[in-house]
Amino acid sequence: MSINDKTVPVLSPLLPRRDSDKLTRHRRLRHAATSRDGDMAVFLGSWLKAPHRIGALAPSSRFLARAMATQVDVRRPEFVVELGGGTGSVTKALLDAGVPPSRLIVVERDERLYKLLRRRFPELRVVQGDATDLVALLKPLGIKAASAVVSSLPLVSMSKRVRGQIVDQAFYLLGEAGRFVQYTYSLSSPVAVRELGLRGRVAARVWLNFPPASVWNYRRIPAAA
Ligand SMILES: C[S@@+](CC[C@H](N)C(=O)[O-])C[C@H]1O[C@@H](n2cnc3c(N)ncnc32)[C@H](O)[C@@H]1O
Repeated sequence: MSINDKTVPVLSPLLPRRDSDKLTRHRRLRHAATSRDGDMAVFLGSWLKAPHRIGALAPSSRFLARAMATQVDVRRPEFVVELGGGTGSVTKALLDAGVPPSRLIVVERDERLYKLLRRRFPELRVVQGDATDLVALLKPLGIKAASAVVSSLPLVSMSKRVRGQIVDQAFYLLGEAGRFVQYTYSLSSPVAVRELGLRGRVAARVWLNFPPASVWNYRRIPAAA
C-alpha cells in the first residue's frame, strides 16, 4: 500500500515510534514539496544561484499578485500571457480573478521554477524560455495576439536593449488595445515610455509586499494620436 496524506494520520499512532517518525518525516518532505514553504525554498535556491536573473528576494505577496491581476480585463477573448511566473503567486491571482486556464500562458526561464509551475498548475500551458524570444516561443502554440501581458520580470536589472526587446515583443502581441502590466520596486517607470511610443500610469501602490511595489499599466499610443 502506498503512503499518502490520508493513510498517514490513521496509521502513525499504531506504529512503533521509529516507523512513525519516518512517516512524519515523509509527510514533512511531501508538504515542503507542495506548500508555500516548499515554493519559497525552490525560489531561494534559484535566487542563490543567480540573484540578478531572478530579481526579487521573495515571491510576490498575494496583495501584489491581486493588484496585478485586477489590471486584466478577463472578459476579453484573447490570451493572457504571464512573464516570469516564478512560484506562481501572480498565476494564482490571475486564475482567481477569472482568467480561464485555457487562455492563460505562463513563460518562465528558470528550470526549477518552470518545473514547480508545471506541478502546481497542471491545467495551464507553461513554457520554459526567455521572454526576449516571446513571439517565437508562443508561435508553436498558435498564439499571435494577447489582451494582456502581465510581467514580474526584473526589467530594471536588465540592459535597456533587452528591456526594449521584451516590451516590443509584448506589444507586437498586444496591439493598441492590449495592456502591459509590470510591477517595480523603483520609484520611476521601469519601461522607457517615450522611446517605445507608450503611455504608462501607476495603477496601484502595494505596501503589503517585501519590498513595497508599484504596479504600472502601459498601452501603446494609437497611431493617429
Ligand atoms: C521576481 S521573480 C518572480 C515573481 C513571481 N511573481 C513570484 O511570486 O514568484 C521574476 C521571475 O522572472 C523570471 N525571469 C527573469 N528573467 C526572465 C526572462 N528573460 N524570461 C523569462 N523569465 C525570466 C525569473 O526566473 C523569476 O522567476
